[in-house]
Amino acid sequence: MVQGGARLLGELPVHGAKNSSLPILAASLLSGGETVLYNCPRLTDVDAAVEILQVLGCTVRREEDALVIDSSRAAHTEIPEKLMHEMRSSIVFLGAMLARLSRARLSFPGGCELGPRPIDLHIASLKRLGVQITEEYGCIDCRTEGRLQGTKITLSFPSVGATENILLASVLAQGETVIHNAAQEPEIVDLANYLTACGARIRDAGKSTLVVEGVERLHSAEYTVMPDRIAATTYLCGAAVTGGEILLTSAHSGDMESVLPVFEQAGCRLETEPGRIHLIGPRRLTAVKELRTMPYPGFPTDAQAPIMAMLARAEGTSVFVENIFESRYKHVGELCRMGADIHTEGKVAVVRGVEKLYGASVEATDLRGGAALVVAALAADGITRIGSVGHIDRGYEAIEDAFSVLGGSVRRIRE
Ligand code: UD1
Repeated sequence: MVQGGARLLGELPVHGAKNSSLPILAASLLSGGETVLYNCPRLTDVDAAVEILQVLGCTVRREEDALVIDSSRAAHTEIPEKLMHEMRSSIVFLGAMLARLSRARLSFPGGCELGPRPIDLHIASLKRLGVQITEEYGCIDCRTEGRLQGTKITLSFPSVGATENILLASVLAQGETVIHNAAQEPEIVDLANYLTACGARIRDAGKSTLVVEGVERLHSAEYTVMPDRIAATTYLCGAAVTGGEILLTSAHSGDMESVLPVFEQAGCRLETEPGRIHLIGPRRLTAVKELRTMPYPGFPTDAQAPIMAMLARAEGTSVFVENIFESRYKHVGELCRMGADIHTEGKVAVVRGVEKLYGASVEATDLRGGAALVVAALAADGITRIGSVGHIDRGYEAIEDAFSVLGGSVRRIRE
C-alpha cells in the first residue's frame, strides 16, 4: 500500500546482487568445501537457490551477514519440479551439477512472465562439452562419463544464463574452453571472480571472448557479492520521480554506465564517487528520446520497467525498444490504470508523459514490472494498492523498508 506524494530524501545502502548471488550459490557446489558468502541478499529467489542446494545434499546456514554453504556432501542429482518452477534461473544449477556430480535431472524451466524462455543455447553448449542429454516429457536428463572436455563454443546470442552454465561446467573440465560471443554482464565477472577465488583459471571474464583453463579441483573460499545495479537503479527512479534527493551507498556506478546518463538526460543532477551515487531530481523530469535494451554494456532490460514508470510523469514523449525479451511490457497496462499514457506495439513502447499519476489498485505481473509500480505509486496522487508483491520480493530486500527510510509511505499489508 503506497501513499504517494512524498519527496524521497536520504541515504540508502544497496543490497547484494540477485543475479550474481544465484549463479554463485550454484557455483558453491563445485568447491566441495565451505563457501562463506558476504552481502548475499535476503530474497525469495535466494531462498529457492538455498533450498536447491539443500536438496542436493549441501548444508547452508546464515551467520549474521554471511551465508555459509558446505557442499562437501552433495550427492543428490535431481531438482524437484516445484523448485524449478519457483525460480526459472535454477537452470544455472545444471552446469555446476554436471561438473561436480556428473549427473543432473531436472524439468524444463518453462515459459514465464517475460515470454518464452528457451534453453537451447545452454543445452547445445553443454553437449559440446561432452554432456549426453536426453529430453523427455518436459524433463532433461544429463550425464557425463568422467570429466567434461574443454572446447570452443560460439554463442549465437550472448545469453547470460548460457554463459554462466558454460563457465560452471568448464572450470573443472579437461583442457581449455573458449566462449565466443559470451555475455559481458558485471554479474558474469562476479561469478568468475568467485570461481577464481576457489582456484579456477578464467581469463577475460567481462569480455566477448572468455577463456577457461580447466583445473582438477577447487577449494573453499570467502567472497563478497557485488551490489545490485538494478535495485540501485530502482531506488534512483523513486528519488528522481518524486523530485527528491538520494545518496546510494555500497553502489558501483561503473556497472551502471548505460543507465546513469538516462537520469541526467531526464534532468537529474548526478555525482558519483567510489561506492556512492548522489542524485537530485528536478521539479519535473523531461522525456528521454529513445531507450533500446541491449546486452551489456547496453541499456539493461531489467531497468526498462522502473525507468518507464519514472518517465511516465516526465514532460514530453519517451520511446522504448525492448530487444531482449519478447513480452516485457506487462506492467504497461497497470501503469495506464494509474493514469499513464503508454502505447505498445511489438518491441516498441511510446510513453507520453502525463502531469499526474493517480493511486489505483494494480497487480505486480513480474519482478521488475512490480518494482515499476512502486516507483509510479510513490509519485502518484493518493493511495495505490499493489497486489502479488511476491514477485517483488524475488529481487528486492524489503522494498517497503528501503523506500520508507527515504520518507516514502510504503506499507506491507498481509491479507
Ligand atoms: C538474465 C537475468 C535477467 C536478465 C537477463 C538479460 C539472472 C538470474 N537473470 O536472465 O534478470 O533480464 O539475463 O539481461 O541473471 N535465450 C535463448 N536461448 C537460450 C537462452 C536465452 O533464446 O538458451 C534468449 C532468451 O529467450 C532472451 C535472451 O536470450 O530472449 C536473453 O536471455 P538470457 O541472457 O539468457 O537471460 P537469462 O540468463 O534468462
